[in-house]
Amino acid sequence: MTAFAAHPALRRYWHAVAPAVAAADEPLAVRLLGEDLVVWRAGPDTLGVLRDRCPHREAPLSAGRVDGGCVECPYHGWRFDASGACRLVPSAGGGGAVPSRAAVPAYRAVERYGLVWVCLDEPAAPPPSVPEDDDPSFRRINPPVDVWRAAATRMVDNFLDIAHFPFVHRASFGGAAAAEVPAVELGDLGGWFGYRYAVTAANPEAGAAASGASAAVVHREMSTGFTLPFAVRSTIRYDSGLQHVLLLLSTPRDDESSYFAFVVWRNDDASVPAEEVIRLDLLIGEEDRRMLERVPGTLALERNALVNVQADRASVEWRRRLRELLGPPSGG
Ligand code: FES
Ligand SMILES: [Fe+2]
Repeated sequence: MTAFAAHPALRRYWHAVAPAVAAADEPLAVRLLGEDLVVWRAGPDTLGVLRDRCPHREAPLSAGRVDGGCVECPYHGWRFDASGACRLVPSAGGGGAVPSRAAVPAYRAVERYGLVWVCLDEPAAPPPSVPEDDDPSFRRINPPVDVWRAAATRMVDNFLDIAHFPFVHRASFGGAAAAEVPAVELGDLGGWFGYRYAVTAANPEAGAAASGASAAVVHREMSTGFTLPFAVRSTIRYDSGLQHVLLLLSTPRDDESSYFAFVVWRNDDASVPAEEVIRLDLLIGEEDRRMLERVPGTLALERNALVNVQADRASVEWRRRLRELLGPPSGG
């Protein structure tokens, strides 16, 4: 099902689809907004992104290989460059002409924050901006990109929500978190829209590297905000001054499955290995994934479709703005 994911407005935004390192010597199959795509490294600074279907006999180009900056179809070896133009038809011999219709739709791709971002139409906005990436006191950590069997809308709603901490995250950091959520005051967070709050977090062994503390419980000053359509940024500041910034990206593959790409920035001295630092984040992500994979379908965006309470204010505002971005529902 792609009724939601295929909305044309979503094609005008950048979506993270893969780790940048995955676009290398082998073509990579990705699915974005209901479209199957092949991604490969066409040159040092060029990523190729084409529809993953050969115009000759419709074989998936992602099952082929990369040669000379082109992707080569696995079936009869036709080669396509990053513009989608066919460069070689081996059966036609050296002097054979390439049929002019032998082209594949090509899309824009950029590399940012260690991820491949794809936009399927004229971009309406640049990819979201994380200022810590330019700050030399922060290092960046790129965990793997996963597929969740959950709607991207449900993921964003979850990432904006702190009322689930003591329940979904009881086994990780949420065991010490208060169930009551103080009044949510929404505002600008430097290009992101959201709120600030404080959390008393359990500090399990798996989290000691992330918090840089061994106490049973740690205090976190946090903020969480969004940019449309599906990016969330969360910041954590521990009492020691240590900051841990998370970019949480939900990319619809289709209505019911999504990429979960997250990136971490920390202002530490990099003495703790990256894998140790993100152990807690991976555990927390698994807890969210297990919850959301139990909830079928996309999140209803209509104003009164769901029951909301004060703690849901950020999600209510994100849904209102997403409705605006999508425009009035088409008739029928
Ligand atoms: S199907 Fe791709 S070259 Fe024939
Ligand atoms: Fe969560």
